[in-house]
Amino acid sequence: MDVVTGAFSFTGRFIARRLMTQERQIKTLTNHPQRPGTEDITAEVAPLQFADRDALVESLRGADVLYNTYWVRFQHGRVRFGQAVANTRTLVGAARDAGVRKVVHISVSNPREDSPLDYYAGKARAERAVRESGLAWAIVRPTLIFGDGDILINNIAWLLRRLPIFGIPGRGDYRVQPVAGEDVAEIATWAAEQTDNVTIDAAGPDIVYYSEMVESIAIAVGRHPRFVYMSPRTSLRAAKLIGRLVNDVMLNEPELEGLMQELLVSTERPRGTKRLDNWLLTNADTVGMKYASELDRHWR
Ligand SMILES: NC(=O)c1ccc[n+]([C@@H]2O[C@H](COP(=O)([O-])OP(=O)(O)OC[C@H]3O[C@@H](n4cnc5c(N)ncnc54)[C@H](OP(=O)(O)O)[C@@H]3O)[C@@H](O)[C@H]2O)c1
Repeated sequence: MDVVTGAFSFTGRFIARRLMTQERQIKTLTNHPQRPGTEDITAEVAPLQFADRDALVESLRGADVLYNTYWVRFQHGRVRFGQAVANTRTLVGAARDAGVRKVVHISVSNPREDSPLDYYAGKARAERAVRESGLAWAIVRPTLIFGDGDILINNIAWLLRRLPIFGIPGRGDYRVQPVAGEDVAEIATWAAEQTDNVTIDAAGPDIVYYSEMVESIAIAVGRHPRFVYMSPRTSLRAAKLIGRLVNDVMLNEPELEGLMQELLVSTERPRGTKRLDNWLLTNADTVGMKYASELDRHWR
């Protein structure tokens, strides 16, 4: 039996589906056991909580591998990245005490403890907690994950479907390397089987400019808005305004900075094989039909 955090949320659903094809039994730690579109996933459920350590240890007992996708996308309310790092340390410590063989931890491409971007610094500190856990470990660092249930690409499509103009931050000439959720899952399960501890990127086969990616999404959804190049500051203001209308945090400054600094590009040989363009064409009828709200998913 393997434990996956968030088997009905985004990355975890791909890992759960992959484990199901390998006929592994799955248990998930989650606070959202009934997400639409994940009815095919069969998993025993326990809460994802960090306050009751004994209960956390019990929920992990009997597991071979813990696939950890837990993280928070941004600091909100009283939740800081430091808390997410502490929670990660609690989780992997509980896994060790429960006798789990290995943790496969989902991180992000290019994390650095001295990064000025809190997200990337926090992710690097969480990685350290994993390496110091006393468990066998694998760290998988995805770039930008696409697939059923994603937020960024879906919401770009949502905007393109509705607006006659589309704002591109800066000149749109920074690169991204999207990776399919299925590829991340395949890399994660491969990592679980390695005898050595490994740290590897999970990146797709194509590196494209952000503006190119937006154009591909526009073509897929059959819209041809006017592209307007905006300063990052104006883009963030626009995102904030739209965020108010949809009652969400659509895009925040550290996310935009990470994107513009090309942190969602890997320096390793790509391990993913699936192309965003193909996925967009196959999912052209559904992508961006509904806005995907991070606050609805995790904070309300
Ligand atoms: N999405 C991407 O494009 C991307 C790119 C690179 C790296 N990553 C990394 O991949 C991992 C998974 O990301 P994801 O986007 O796929 O996330 P997700 O599935 O939406 O959430 C992953 C897990 O974290 C929990 N979680 C998320 N926000 C939370 C909050 N505010 N409070 C409490 N629990 C919360 C979820 O709980 P529930 O089970 O209750 O939903 C779920 O178990 C993260 O480590 C992320 O940094 C993601």
